Amino acid sequence: MKQRVLSGMRPSGRLHLGHLHGALSNWVELQEKYECFYFVADWHALTTEYENTKNIKNDSVDMVIDWLSVGLNPEKSTIFVQSQLPEHSELHLFLSMITPLSWLERCPTYKEQLKEISQRDLHTYGFLGYPVLQAADILIYKADKVPVGEDQLPHLELTREIARRFNSFYGEILTEPAALLTKTPKIPGNDGRKMSKSYNNCIYLSDEPSVISKKISSYITDPARIHPTDLGHPEICPIFALHKIYSDNCSPRFQSGVSEANKTEELCKKGKIGCVKCKKDLTENIIKSLEPIQIKQKELKKNPAEIHKILKTGSEKARAIAGKTINEIRDALKLWNTE
Ligand code: TRP
Ligand code: SF4
Repeated sequence: MKQRVLSGMRPSGRLHLGHLHGALSNWVELQEKYECFYFVADWHALTTEYENTKNIKNDSVDMVIDWLSVGLNPEKSTIFVQSQLPEHSELHLFLSMITPLSWLERCPTYKEQLKEISQRDLHTYGFLGYPVLQAADILIYKADKVPVGEDQLPHLELTREIARRFNSFYGEILTEPAALLTKTPKIPGNDGRKMSKSYNNCIYLSDEPSVISKKISSYITDPARIHPTDLGHPEICPIFALHKIYSDNCSPRFQSGVSEANKTEELCKKGKIGCVKCKKDLTENIIKSLEPIQIKQKELKKNPAEIHKILKTGSEKARAIAGKTINEIRDALKLWNTE
């Protein structure tokens, strides 16, 4: 029996290179070894976007198009939308009864976001309960492994604590999930900070070649390099960080033995390549590697009915499991069952 993997993403619309290398390429790989469930966490979007909900559905569809375009395969993985599965909300309710407030109040993501996000009032019941909803998402499928980024580790730990507390009250029903933390390369935006929608420094999977070219030109580089002959420090240059990903096997000028990234590193250190040329090489490689993804995106965009069909089939498959767990729980709590 394959182990079960589950992960979700808030519907942020079009995805960028940070999503691709931080999560998605890992999700695609996991499909080969695990029984995978991937879902759009649209209720989680409501915890912060409750005043402005009009884009959530469109953003969800755009995000699923990007998932499929990079290789998530609905034949292999169950792909669905959280709000289509009311079972998540029922488990969320049960878990909310047993989760001590102090566990939620001390959660680092909660404290940080309260401080950082000032445009919205996040002193709400739903926002405090964000990790409880996330725990319900995971526990309802009895997932063994949850691929998450480092920022999500506290949520996973909380999920495990909630599962233990639940089981101590009602019997061994829920599975304690383990985090699948894979090493991911840092993807810098043009300002050198982490690529993120909120910094407005992203290269999107759907960006046209001309847009990619403009964005790459706008990247900061090693400040020591004013003239092309100045000796450079590629290790601190965000362009070089991207070369390491995009300029090996996918490069059109790749020659066996020496990767282009290695050559670039050497040339930069010796002051034998200018930043303009270096950026141009990178641009070409990124455009080339996004080409097949963009072809797939265009095909999928033309056929929204296909996306809806995939999501409908996905939610039916998910429901078969979620419904079973919820009935088991109602029985354990001596509540009414649907059967
Ligand atoms: N909180 C996650 C994020 O912001 C999204 C999410 C919701 C999730 N439910 C989940 C991730 C369950 C993994 C498992 O990225
Ligand atoms: Fe960065 Fe390339 Fe310029 Fe070196 S040559 S500083 S790696 S852009």
